[in-house]
Amino acid sequence: MSKRFYITTAIDYLNGEPHLGHAYEKIVADVIARARRSFGTEVFFLTGVDEHGQKVQQAALAQGQSPKAYCDELAVIWKTLATRLELTNDDFIRTTEERHQKVVQAILTQLNNQGHFYKAAHRGFYSAKEETFLTEKDRLPDGNFPASYGEVAEIEEENYYFKLASHQQWLIDYIEANPSFIAPDYRRNEVLGFLKNNVLEDLCITRPVSRLNWGIPIPFDPAFVTYVWFDALVNYISVPASLQDPLLADALAGRAADPTASGTLWPADIHLIGKDILKFHAVYWPIMLKAMGLQQPCQILVHGWWQREGHKLSKSTGNVVDPLAVIAEWGLDAFRFYVVRELAIGPDGNWTDAGFASRYQAELANGLGNLVNRSLSMLKRYRNGVIPAPATDLQVDAERAVAETRGHLEQNQLQAALVSIWSLVNRANQYVDQTQPFKLAKDPAQAKRLDEVLYNLVESCRVLAVLLAPFLPGTAAKIYSQLALPDAPDRFDKTAWGGLAAGHVIGEPAALFPRKDRPAA
Ligand code: ME8
Ligand code: MG
Repeated sequence: MSKRFYITTAIDYLNGEPHLGHAYEKIVADVIARARRSFGTEVFFLTGVDEHGQKVQQAALAQGQSPKAYCDELAVIWKTLATRLELTNDDFIRTTEERHQKVVQAILTQLNNQGHFYKAAHRGFYSAKEETFLTEKDRLPDGNFPASYGEVAEIEEENYYFKLASHQQWLIDYIEANPSFIAPDYRRNEVLGFLKNNVLEDLCITRPVSRLNWGIPIPFDPAFVTYVWFDALVNYISVPASLQDPLLADALAGRAADPTASGTLWPADIHLIGKDILKFHAVYWPIMLKAMGLQQPCQILVHGWWQREGHKLSKSTGNVVDPLAVIAEWGLDAFRFYVVRELAIGPDGNWTDAGFASRYQAELANGLGNLVNRSLSMLKRYRNGVIPAPATDLQVDAERAVAETRGHLEQNQLQAALVSIWSLVNRANQYVDQTQPFKLAKDPAQAKRLDEVLYNLVESCRVLAVLLAPFLPGTAAKIYSQLALPDAPDRFDKTAWGGLAAGHVIGEPAALFPRKDRPAA
């Protein structure tokens, strides 16, 4: 079987409820997955949750629950989010699943047998919040650790370590030889800067059961569980392995794997992650894969962080955006549109309630919604909904928007793709103002011109539905259904001008984005 386009998201810690940042990442991955499918590529889109570790154990204890019961409850909430965002994920991994634990243990056994690990005592400062040991370099000038690490405790314990330093130069060379391995560029430079200016410390891959028992048991030493990050990263291969990816099956069974062979899923095409977990994905994970003899993912694609109204998202200060509440008020597509339109993949973003309302009103209600509604309504009113003979005034504009959108989607430039799509929305709205079909309708001598204008408008709406489908799947489906088209706007090729046939009768137009005239706050 040929290689599928394999895209993953970070798996979210089950230590609380989902917020804007989590929803954003999953929507971006979903848009990429849907866009690739519309190009005719077979896609596998994986997301899920990260259940082990001290952070989750502490959150469970704070609720007076066992970690397992706590995770079982929360996993339902997170899976519901995926459904409500209408993610087209092909699988959803929970790291407590047996299929995952088996793979983590197989890898640990193999790497241990090959001499990648050693046991040692270590005294150091540990942040449970970020599940990581800190070093002197992490201290602020005043000697304290940054508040983002939460409570930091000094602990001394024996653990197993994964030798990293011997892979450091290889990794630098690999990143330099593969310029698109880490994107955007400034994240790649950040990793290279780190690797060139520090000697990699070995990675502590266990936690003593005496301190933390909520983890995957270390197969060769029952006194330890697996460090949550070693466990979590493996999800990217444990799912393909559970689906019998041939290359992974070889590697995990200890058979010599051909490092240039392609399985059906591995290597991943894109690991989509946030900027805070770059080191885990761009330093530890590549070295783990190399030690296992597996190919590197094609790209680690790093998005920025959202704030709201200029401040960090924080439950304690109430500065949050609850994705489900926004969806309930404004609709899913408005939410998907805002986050992707507002923020390119890379820089940090700032959610503002006013900015959201303003994009809704200007771009969705008055822009796209108005165009579709008036185009279809005029066709109903003036031509009983019957499509006239094909005409071409807007063909060039549509073809330009289609070509630009395709180019941007191929580069995962989702924000830029929306800008290109809106160039057609705006052009078509301008065309209504220029051609004034309501005036043409009053003059029988202009009947043929009115036919042309109506064809251009309604066909532009159809093309827009196809372009929009990866971003606003519900809206795209509604446009197709209002056009009474029997198929779905699910193939990018359907953007070809002239898809609407003369004589076809459209259905009933209905508002796509109801106006929200809310009193000023
Ligand atoms: O780090 N804006 O989980 P997590 C944008 N379990 N993205 C944000 C964000 C914000 N304000 N806050 C969080 C973990 N994220 C690990 C991952 S992967 C093998 C293991 C993003 O729940 C964050 O950058 O803390 C990350 O990509 C994802 O949400 C999950 O964060
Ligand atoms: Mg986090």
